[in-house]
Amino acid sequence: MAKIAVVAGDGIGTEVVAQALKVLRVVLPGVETTDYDLGAARYNRTGEVLPDSVLEELRGHDAILLGAVGDPSVPPGVLERGLLLKLRFDFDQYVNLRPSRLWPGTTSPLAGVKPGEIDLVVVREGTEGLYVGAGGNLHPGTAAEVATEESLNTRHGVERVIRDAFGRAAKRPRRKVTLVHKTNVLTHAGGLWARTFNAVKAEFPDIETEYQHVDAAAMFLVSNPQRYDVVVTDNLFGDILTDIAAAVTGGIGLAASGSINPERAHPSMFEPVHGSAPDIAGKGVADPSAAVLSTALLLDHLGHPEAAAKVTEAVGNEVAARTPGSAISTEAIGDRLATAVA
Ligand code: NAD
Ligand code: IPM
Ligand code: MN
Repeated sequence: MAKIAVVAGDGIGTEVVAQALKVLRVVLPGVETTDYDLGAARYNRTGEVLPDSVLEELRGHDAILLGAVGDPSVPPGVLERGLLLKLRFDFDQYVNLRPSRLWPGTTSPLAGVKPGEIDLVVVREGTEGLYVGAGGNLHPGTAAEVATEESLNTRHGVERVIRDAFGRAAKRPRRKVTLVHKTNVLTHAGGLWARTFNAVKAEFPDIETEYQHVDAAAMFLVSNPQRYDVVVTDNLFGDILTDIAAAVTGGIGLAASGSINPERAHPSMFEPVHGSAPDIAGKGVADPSAAVLSTALLLDHLGHPEAAAKVTEAVGNEVAARTPGSAISTEAIGDRLATAVA
């Protein structure tokens, strides 16, 4: 039976993961879950972010379900870098998969876009780019301070994520891949991405391709998101574009993601796109759908496509059945979904 490590984390992370687990236990009875106390509370209590022994324990699981990390009581970056990014990097989760669909029943903030018309997936590179932490501060805190932040891009890293994107497009009806970068300014990294894209594209002659600069892509995600099928891009561009994609498809409360190691050499991690939302934490109003849909991605990854489809369908139906303007609690949504998949 599948062994899942649960890192609920901070803020609404704990609230939404509780609902995701309710649903998971119904569709995968007997699933073994182990809770890991990681995040702000542990850090504030012990000073520990991710002890090596815990990292090794996590490695022994089939997958990780993560809620969110980050808390106003902890300096920015401590948990985000030390816990979340450390897991993505150490477990070589280079495919950061972020699907966005406009569900029936959801009102897009975009006029004239009908449910079903947006169905895209962003394949965001997960282990390189500006996220590697290269750079530093000279003369910190002085008037002469200089800060650098370097983007690391390797042919190996870029090629494998682009190939993954083409592979995914080949299995989707529209068979299209858009490369997003900023080759007109970031000529070093952009050149590597563009050359690699063109090389991999030659292996997939029946896949339609296009290139867009990231600023234009940000615009088109709002003005014409229907044009996208699979979008492949670097770590930071992918972070930003997937919040936009979430906003135009019903909101961040519905946006799921998987941090995937396709070779299965290490556990993959499934997590909502959203964060710990300190502004609503503890109020019981966070939408658990993103966490539940991330659990569906986890089920798919572990070889349970039918259970995954059932969970995804249940979320779609629940969203469609909501009364616009009336609030529904995190728990109530979780209960509805658990009942629906039973
Ligand atoms: P956020 O995603 O936590 O919140 C942005 C806005 O979206 C807030 O107004 C919040 O209330 C709302 N929101 C988010 N999830 C929601 C949900 N499920 N239902 C309803 N509303 C929801 O982003 P932020 O405010 O920029 O970051 C807060 C903290 O979370 C920071 O510490 C940040 O570093 C961290 N963070 C963590 C992750 C992660 O663990 N994967 C992702 C993003 C941000
Ligand atoms: C996300 C988050 C993370 C990221 C942060 C918290 C490190 O914003 O998962 O989208 O930038 O990848
Ligand atoms: Mn983000």
